[in-house]
Amino acid sequence: MVPRHLIDPWYRAIFVRRSVRAYDGRPVGREAIGEIRELLDGFSPLCEGARAVLLEEGAQEILSGTVGSIGKIQGAGAVVVFIADKSHPQWQAAAGYLGEGIILHATSLGLGTCWVAGTYKRSEARRRIALSVSESIVAVTPLGRPAAAESAGAQVIRAVAGSHNRKPLETLTRGVAADQWRLGCREALEAARLAPSAANRQPWQFGVMPDRVVVRASGPGLMPVVPNRLDCGIVMLHLEVGARAHGLEGSWTFLQRPLVAEYVFEPAGDP
Ligand SMILES: Cc1cc2nc3c(=O)[nH]c(=O)nc-3n(C[C@H](O)[C@H](O)[C@H](O)COP(=O)(O)O)c2cc1C
Repeated sequence: MVPRHLIDPWYRAIFVRRSVRAYDGRPVGREAIGEIRELLDGFSPLCEGARAVLLEEGAQEILSGTVGSIGKIQGAGAVVVFIADKSHPQWQAAAGYLGEGIILHATSLGLGTCWVAGTYKRSEARRRIALSVSESIVAVTPLGRPAAAESAGAQVIRAVAGSHNRKPLETLTRGVAADQWRLGCREALEAARLAPSAANRQPWQFGVMPDRVVVRASGPGLMPVVPNRLDCGIVMLHLEVGARAHGLEGSWTFLQRPLVAEYVFEPAGDP
């Protein structure tokens, strides 16, 4: 579970986070770097199977895009590389959960971020990091102060992905009628709905019961680059933060495919 003191800042960050692809070129401050470093090896048992590395050198080489200037991220002061241990059964969800925690924390510090799983130079990241045989780089994020204006390429990506659009809650939820949802459950689901996903596919569904929410992966995924369960790890973090920001404490259990995990609420206290 996310440490209690991080719930409120991360909840607020959910509503201001967006993918930032143009930065002002300045280095990231020491204090922010220090805070982010504390999260790199994980902040919860759910992060097991993933880790992250923060690089203050070489951000531009890693983020220089794939084809010409498509996907190019400009002016980032640092980069965080997300690594999964593929021998761990939950590596995809763990990488999403860990990565989004780091991204929301950076957002809470006023930094811009952007999940990047496709449009970066993997070989440049690989060259700078020692990986074990079962580890693989799954994505990166730039870190830095957002620039005043976005490049034309970034605007194209944002428009193609329809980045601001989110599916309505009604199409994402199954299970009991909304009037039987526990207090705080709607807010938790709204926070989940705002989660970023590769190409903004939002490949998740929520089975809502009076005592739990079941997260299920839906759709074909963006394989081989981004498995749906990576996106689902991201949405799990948003769901938990949203629930706990509204007093809905609970615990996670991983489930068999195509289900991902369920968040079971603690029993309601006496009114
Ligand atoms: C796992 C993952 C991989 C992504 N990969 C890329 C990428 O390779 N290049 C890119 O420009 N954006 C990438 N994105 C950013 C998404 O396009 C973006 O999150 C989505 O359109 C929603 O927009 P928002 O983050 O501004 O809310 C990725 C996002 C996620 C979650």
